[in-house]
Amino acid sequence: MITIRAFSPTDIPHVMDIVKRSLGETYPPSLYLTIHNLWPEGFLVAIEDGRIEGFVATVPSGQKVARVLMLAVLPEVRGKSLGRNLMEQLYASCSMKGYDTVILEVRKSNGDAMAFYEFQGFSVTGEIGNFYSNGEDAYKMMKVLRS
Ligand SMILES: CC(C)(COP(=O)(O)OP(=O)(O)OC[C@H]1O[C@@H](n2cnc3c(N)ncnc32)[C@H](O)[C@@H]1OP(=O)(O)O)[C@@H](O)C(=O)NCCC(=O)NCCS
Repeated sequence: MITIRAFSPTDIPHVMDIVKRSLGETYPPSLYLTIHNLWPEGFLVAIEDGRIEGFVATVPSGQKVARVLMLAVLPEVRGKSLGRNLMEQLYASCSMKGYDTVILEVRKSNGDAMAFYEFQGFSVTGEIGNFYSNGEDAYKMMKVLRS
């Protein structure tokens, strides 16, 4: 069974492991605390069999807009609806907070994530050149939540 709950600071080592294995990045632990403090209900983890296998980290971005900073599921458990469950709980958190729009950026080369977000109802709204540290461009994507 998949459980979605709010991130807790004790989850940091597990989230850092997912970020390293799924996104190839290592950020300082303080980053996760900052995101958590900005909006606790927007930083969610997915648990299956007692293990944290995925997470979504989201921050407020304007009065009614939430911005997804990171979403990742461990490679060996992708395709089992963890990502969908995380996003559905995120939409519920948005509704409770009065947010009606979710935005995010995705690497132009990340076709898998694009397909996932399009399945979630996101559309491309623009591009940002040189967005990532390796110089890669990003697509901007947006989803308007139904009230
Ligand atoms: C993107 C990601 C979070 C999706 O998580 P996931 O748990 O594998 O996705 P789900 O199993 O919940 O997929 C839900 C639906 O999205 C669609 N989908 C997911 N991955 C897809 C893909 N690669 N191609 C096409 N459709 C896809 C499917 O239609 C799926 O529907 P189904 O449940 O009927 O099969 C995961 O692939 C991941 O961690 N990728 C690496 C990190 C990353 O790129 N993050 C995004 C950075 S912006």
